[in-house]
Amino acid sequence: MTIPLIVLPENRRLEAEPNVTILKAAQAGGIDITATCGGRGRCTSCRVKFVSGSIPPPTIMDELQLGGDLVREGYRLSCQCRVTEPITVQVAPPLDEQAFQILGADSRFQDVARAAIDAGIAKQVVKASLPVDENHQTSDLEELLHVAGRTTDDVSPALLRDLPATLRAHDGEVTVTTFGRQVISVETGDTTLMKFGLAVDIGTTSVVTTLIDLESGEQLASVSSLNPQAAFGGDLMSRLAFAQFNPVNLRKLHTRIIGLLNQHVEETVRQSGVPARSIYKVVVVGNTCMHHIVLGIDPSHVGAAPYAPVMRHPVVLPAHELFLKVNPEARVCLLPIVAGFVGADTMGVVLATRIYESPETRIVVDIGTNGEVVLGSKTHLWACSAPAGPALEGAQLKHGMRGALGAIDRVTITDDVEVHTIGEASAIGICGSGTIDALAQMLDAGILDHTGLIQVDKRDQLPPRLRDRVGVRDDMRQFILVHAGEAGATADIVLTQGDVREVQLAKGAIASGMAMLQHVAGIPNDRIAELMLAGGFGNYLSIKSALRIGLIPQLPAEKIRYVGNAALLGAQLCLVSETERLRSEGIARSIEHVSLAMHPAFQDIFVECLSFPRS
Ligand code: FES
Repeated sequence: MTIPLIVLPENRRLEAEPNVTILKAAQAGGIDITATCGGRGRCTSCRVKFVSGSIPPPTIMDELQLGGDLVREGYRLSCQCRVTEPITVQVAPPLDEQAFQILGADSRFQDVARAAIDAGIAKQVVKASLPVDENHQTSDLEELLHVAGRTTDDVSPALLRDLPATLRAHDGEVTVTTFGRQVISVETGDTTLMKFGLAVDIGTTSVVTTLIDLESGEQLASVSSLNPQAAFGGDLMSRLAFAQFNPVNLRKLHTRIIGLLNQHVEETVRQSGVPARSIYKVVVVGNTCMHHIVLGIDPSHVGAAPYAPVMRHPVVLPAHELFLKVNPEARVCLLPIVAGFVGADTMGVVLATRIYESPETRIVVDIGTNGEVVLGSKTHLWACSAPAGPALEGAQLKHGMRGALGAIDRVTITDDVEVHTIGEASAIGICGSGTIDALAQMLDAGILDHTGLIQVDKRDQLPPRLRDRVGVRDDMRQFILVHAGEAGATADIVLTQGDVREVQLAKGAIASGMAMLQHVAGIPNDRIAELMLAGGFGNYLSIKSALRIGLIPQLPAEKIRYVGNAALLGAQLCLVSETERLRSEGIARSIEHVSLAMHPAFQDIFVECLSFPRS
């Protein structure tokens, strides 16, 4: 017997198995409810509001994550709440996040790519003689290869299926497209001007695709979206746990990402007017988990010690094997992997930043749900991964949210608090860059001590307007950033002591990753020529605040720079240059991977990195 479950705002009526969680019932019915922590009751992303039916008593996770006010208003975590009677629930927040910030392609590409364009895709117009003499045995293909000066017989059956008609359409005049020695397309007439490719960065949180002219290197279109797999876990470990030893779930993740990539193809084609069949090369970067999933490879063992990937070498395969709706014989190239948690995206970062040919020691850090750090120079490179979790992206915080419309992204504390929101919209929550700003300012104002404790006992020493913002609610210390009515907020927006601890854990993970590589390499701060901040989060971060909370090493600000979405930049480089793509394997093999957890010095360094620097 099933139980009716109505989910708003889509107003979908589902039949739920008794005692299944609302989250699972919704997902089984094809409704996406964001489950950032993978249904472990450790975030608030899956919250729903009861509209009809009796509201079940809150679980301990409801109380902890949602707090008293939301619980009283009828909110529950859908991953914790089971369907036992007919109910109607409203999914919150709305599924379509507005104007979220994803770091897309950027103009730096043009500078880097100008050097050498050699995409590996060659086009040649030929006039093939059609076989005429019965006594002289030949074939369409042989005649074509002969006139094209090719000897390969590595031609796909799909291409051969169309060959007779193509050759005979224009009296043998065709354009032959090759990738290396392989003939990947034969088209009627002269199509030499049509040569395009896609660079794709599949992040745990977001996916960015750019369409590039392979002749000029010009970027013609760009699309970015949230990764639709987030419905099955926001951070890497939740996503891995979902797919682990479960082929059906792996299939779901694979199908989702391929579906999104095809949407991106459609959108870039729409923006640029380029026909999808003229896209002959696709370069994909992503962490090891995303890399495996896009290929449909089981990532189960990446999620458990010793975190071994299934393979590390670069992969090249025809697009039709992935059902990508570009030219079916387009070559999809995935960059090599360094280690389980240092994936093809890190290789993109290494190539784009040129750290591998730097005469001086540099650090590049890609701050995300899983941070990757690379330190070194042309002499040697070390890399590690730092599992920060999604707190720095606003998840798992009481009023945390992605960098979307209405998120507080800048905070200034003087005698009172001033906030800035994305899009100057009414404040509805706080995103990662806002949280880091807030903590830095709270440290300077004496609201937070260097251990991360909110100074409730010392609030009398604060200016009156700040004093009113510091307090205890539901047994939790908190700092009210925005009172209801301020900055357009309809309810208080707070940072709780729990939020501060979450951020400390996340920043401790990233900071200790950098500190560990410095320790292993024997490189103190004064020997670091530059720190490069890569990735979506890094780009929106205030360097001053990041230094203040000890997220990054204490270097002079002029030695720190943003390098944008370097993983995507690396994919673009490999798209337009086979020299770059082919060099990636050698570099990947030369990088020394440092496993943080296994290193005897790690615990001490991590504990040290949890605290905030004293002013
Ligand atoms: S609390 Fe339900 S998915 Fe995170």
